[in-house]
Amino acid sequence: MNEKEVLDALKKYREMDLKYEDGRILGSMCTKPHPISKKISEMFFETNLGDPGLFKGTKKLEDEVIQMMGNFLNNNNPFGYIISGGTEANITAMRTIKNISRKKGNKTTTVIIPETAHFSFEKAREMMDLQYIKPPLTDYYTMDVKYIKDYIEDNKNNKIDAIVGIAGCTELGTIDNIKAISKLAEENSIYLHVDAAFGGFVIPFLEDKYKLNNYNYEFDFSLNAVSSITIDPHKMGLAPIPAGGILFRDISFKKYLDVEAPYLTDIHQATLIGTRTGIGVASTWGVMKLLGEEGYKNIVSECMDKTYYLIKKAKEYGFKPVIDPVLNIVALEDENPSETCLKLREIGWYVSICKCVGALRIIVMPHIEKEHIDEFVEALASVKKN
Ligand SMILES: Cc1ncc(COP(=O)(O)O)c(C=O)c1O
Repeated sequence: MNEKEVLDALKKYREMDLKYEDGRILGSMCTKPHPISKKISEMFFETNLGDPGLFKGTKKLEDEVIQMMGNFLNNNNPFGYIISGGTEANITAMRTIKNISRKKGNKTTTVIIPETAHFSFEKAREMMDLQYIKPPLTDYYTMDVKYIKDYIEDNKNNKIDAIVGIAGCTELGTIDNIKAISKLAEENSIYLHVDAAFGGFVIPFLEDKYKLNNYNYEFDFSLNAVSSITIDPHKMGLAPIPAGGILFRDISFKKYLDVEAPYLTDIHQATLIGTRTGIGVASTWGVMKLLGEEGYKNIVSECMDKTYYLIKKAKEYGFKPVIDPVLNIVALEDENPSETCLKLREIGWYVSICKCVGALRIIVMPHIEKEHIDEFVEALASVKKN
């Protein structure tokens, strides 16, 4: 093939993909990346942070991005990486927890984790043979803190290694009471990991008027026991994929992740993935510098306004939200969400479903406009009629 033939052939494949701007992708936590990231991707497309001594400028950018993210997560001295996504970030956190536990001489690693946790934790459990304890959920779909307290007291001999809290759960956007959990973790010297893969670029920029009384929105390093946070620029941070983030409280956690990498410029490597692109790092840096706090606040407010608009419209057609929206995620009650989801797909609408409650799940990402919402609610009504 010559270059033109290659590009023409690829274009045909690309045309089979859905496009964010058509407003039909309603169940994804990713969105159209900020336009500046196209130029940045080109500039950094050959970089490899797996061998940071060869790409010193890109490595410096990664350190700066981690510091910038640390700043809005109330940590002046963070350590971390921009990696492939929330899955890798959560697995990295669990690897840290497991290695700390082994260093203490424990044979098993026991973690308290919510029912609502993302399935990446299941991959971590299976890979590292972790023991999970899943407390019941409250009426607000958050972990029952009283259960955790009692469990810790009743199991003094079976030490808990870690607790995972979620700040913006995948299905409903709910936020665990991380403040109360952090207090318990601190009193009992337990590691606390927070999965804010989605919420990390929403909650810090959420205006008070959108906050509900039933939730505590504190989730970051200002809470003493929080040792690590997953926060993904390629979700609400508007960076292109792959750009996930793992931040630790400080560099002292690195020793639990390092393996020897004798043939590289840096003879220790802490990340799960070896060869990794600097595109996510540079794009996150660029988008954050360009948007600034004000820019993210505007994006989050627009998404929240459209979230309320979707709920209003859905109610007009007789659909009921499972909960008031905590973040820009809407769950609409449905007796058979899988069937409704498939029927919607047949007519070109892509929503997803909740597993923890019978509902359709819609993420109101920046690419969703009010016209899309109007059309979607009508499509949903027509599907439910048939
Ligand atoms: C809360 C949460 N954690 C982790 C992940 C996994 O992120 P990724 O798909 O980037 O690996 C997701 C993805 O939706 C998520 O919602």
